[in-house]
Amino acid sequence: MSSKRGAPLRVAVLASGRGSNLQAVIDAIEAGQVQATIVAVISNKKDAVALERARKHGLPDIFVDPKPFTGRPDSREAYDRALLDVLTQRDAELVLLAGYMKIVTAVLVDAYANRMMNIHPSLLPSFPGLDVQKKAIDWGCKLAGCTVHFVTEGVDEGPIILQAAVPILDDDNPETLAARILRQEHIIYPRAVQLFAEGRLRVEGRLVRIEQGKPAGEALISPS
Ligand code: GAR
Repeated sequence: MSSKRGAPLRVAVLASGRGSNLQAVIDAIEAGQVQATIVAVISNKKDAVALERARKHGLPDIFVDPKPFTGRPDSREAYDRALLDVLTQRDAELVLLAGYMKIVTAVLVDAYANRMMNIHPSLLPSFPGLDVQKKAIDWGCKLAGCTVHFVTEGVDEGPIILQAAVPILDDDNPETLAARILRQEHIIYPRAVQLFAEGRLRVEGRLVRIEQGKPAGEALISPS
């Protein structure tokens, strides 16, 4: 599950909107905190801010138009096959869904089993789906948060990699809570990518085990 030895992990990002999680990953890579390279930023929305962010950083931005696929009985699978072609061409090793608002089909899930991550703004398995910050407030939850998980066919159901929790305050509304959660998303998503890059994520059924870093050996050999 780790990157090809020696080379930075090749990451593709699928995003539909403003792309702040994409930005967090770009920033962490540029800061040297994540050993990866972004080989494609792909969107189903021509005007996605995420694509602009990619261009600003000199990263390949790719719009894959869903229109030619609509109306076919297999439209979602056909669209995902087009995405898979791009991912294959770019030799992407890990795919990140970052505010990607289309449901991915088995075409992508199977090709990238345990190699595709999603970030979701709730403490899964509570509140999959949409409007989850409002739902957490309406339920009277005292804690909310975000989850990075591997993607399976069930929406927001895959094995959980990392979570962060935040308090829900009495005067929160969905927007203030979403902003508090988002700050944590920007921390845990890059961290999950780095764990993957280090080959430290082991999926066992629905559990993700995080292997500890290598203990220091008896001696250091330089260069290693
Ligand atoms: C993020 O809050 C992310 O967790 C959420 O969309 C937002 C995208 O923001 N994703 C989902 O709800 C997926 N189920 P961004 O475009 O600024 O990264």
